[in-house]
Amino acid sequence: LPVSILPVPFDWGAGRRGAAAGPEAVLHAGVIRRLQQLGYRVQLRSEDCLPNTSADRRTAMQLKHWGRVLTINEAIAQEVRSIAAEGLFPLTIGGDHSIALGTIAGAAASRKRLGVIWIDAHGDLNTPETTPSGNIHGMSLAAAIGLGDSRFTGIGGYSPKLAPERIVLVGARELDDGEKKRIRELNITCFTMHEIDRYGMGHVMEEAIRIASADADGVHVSFDIDSVDPGEAPGTGTPVRGGLNYREAHLAMEMLHEAGVVTSADVVEVNPLLDNGQRTARLAVELIASLAGERIL
Ligand code: ARG
Ligand code: MN
Ligand code: MN
Ligand code: MN
Repeated sequence: LPVSILPVPFDWGAGRRGAAAGPEAVLHAGVIRRLQQLGYRVQLRSEDCLPNTSADRRTAMQLKHWGRVLTINEAIAQEVRSIAAEGLFPLTIGGDHSIALGTIAGAAASRKRLGVIWIDAHGDLNTPETTPSGNIHGMSLAAAIGLGDSRFTGIGGYSPKLAPERIVLVGARELDDGEKKRIRELNITCFTMHEIDRYGMGHVMEEAIRIASADADGVHVSFDIDSVDPGEAPGTGTPVRGGLNYREAHLAMEMLHEAGVVTSADVVEVNPLLDNGQRTARLAVELIASLAGERIL
């Protein structure tokens, strides 16, 4: 399938600036050529399809910069929806994780039984009631299952986008109390770092793929680069120690490719301002290549 890369230079869903420079860094690190070398036709979507949100001043304590986040995500939803309708594989490069509001809204529009594998140090399952920060990148997965402010759950014109039974979290190690409660109440599958240590990444990913794709008509992979240990991926806004090592992250991507179930993806939270050198952007390119089928032999 030809790949369409949608760069989203947006970081108002995060507590610190810099992830807006993520797409440029990942493009500069050679993502297009790497995919072409694997035999893909690659299209770079112009970011001009996205609105300039700088004039939007709407904000609230528990929903910071909500106007900008809403405006960009309505546009992302439309664009991802079009990319999929054109028969292309939507690969969105963020930007902070709030942009998954739009990518999932776009992807689920034509896939009513979409599964999601959310690879992240965090759950991003907060709502305005439970958020400790007011940062919307910590609320995107909750909104996709219909929880939280209706302006966000309604992005793309429908809600919910996802059923909790087809959501799998991988790599979690920093969950807020409200998120833990929500994971238990909704019975969301969550493979924390504990399960990865205990059973190994190979086993965890087999299970993750099985659960997310059961009775599904597609699987969206949302890869937050902060899932990887900060030693390997220092350029990210909310680093948490004790993350995936380099090989575990690759194995996850390789197994996702092998399973052949992935229908859309995003790679988010690369913040080049917090990285001296391009280590984190280069890692993102390598992981995208593994997801696209690159093999050692
Ligand atoms: N749980 C914290 C919050 O709600 C951190 C979220 C970090 N999310 C992310 N996509 N990096 O603010
Ligand atoms: Mn995240
Ligand atoms: Mn995260
Ligand atoms: Mn962040």
